[in-house]
Amino acid sequence: MNIIFARDYDELSRLAAAKVADTMRSKPGAVLGLPTGSTPLGMYRELISMYKEGKLSFKDVTTFNLDEYEGIPKEDENSYYRFMRDNFFSHIDIDKERTNIPDGMSCDVEGECRDYERRIEKAGGIDLMVLGIGNNGHIGFNEPASYYAGITHRVKLHENTIEANSRFFGSIEKVPKYAVTMGIKSIMQCRSIMMLASGKAKADAIKKALEGPITPELPASVLQLHRDLTVIVDEEAGSLL
Ligand code: GLP
Repeated sequence: MNIIFARDYDELSRLAAAKVADTMRSKPGAVLGLPTGSTPLGMYRELISMYKEGKLSFKDVTTFNLDEYEGIPKEDENSYYRFMRDNFFSHIDIDKERTNIPDGMSCDVEGECRDYERRIEKAGGIDLMVLGIGNNGHIGFNEPASYYAGITHRVKLHENTIEANSRFFGSIEKVPKYAVTMGIKSIMQCRSIMMLASGKAKADAIKKALEGPITPELPASVLQLHRDLTVIVDEEAGSLL
């Protein structure tokens, strides 16, 4: 495990973007796993700048997003589809056909989950998975539980997650109660993983994830078993390490 202590959020974002760019340069046609949330926004901004300066092209890149809310239409401002389009995809030269996000509106959720796994396999697997972390240690929407859920699946969101994400919805009642997420097996199968954490609210989860027992009660702790894990924390998120 490689833990990088960034001075602040800007440095974290630059280092994260540099690692994504390295992966793309070392493997033309790289497959990236991508997160949503506030944490990766700076990384996306850096990557967009690199593209605009002509230093990077996303033409041959394929992406798979980690998760999506259930029952939120694509065009809704809170869908992860919109998040990715507005904050990243619409600013770069990526082929939209190569961007994948679980369909949270599918009436056959199980079929959609199986199909998502097949698409990842067909793309040759994920080269670099970028992850954020929830305050309760969740990755994607893999919530604390008594067991690890394997592949892409439907999940009931925890109260803690609903509350944390209500800041985007205006009220707790409007936050969806279910989501579709890549599972722990789908994440652990990625060739390389980079987890990002910024701010005091993440310090406890980061400490438990990296130094605590490996348990599905703290889903990110399973990453300790991955053979190519990089964690980038800013001063506050890394303050308990
Ligand atoms: C959501 C997402 C996660 C993300 C987490 C933390 O619940 N499903 O993938 O890592 O929020 O988000 P933030 O970076 O905004 O703290």
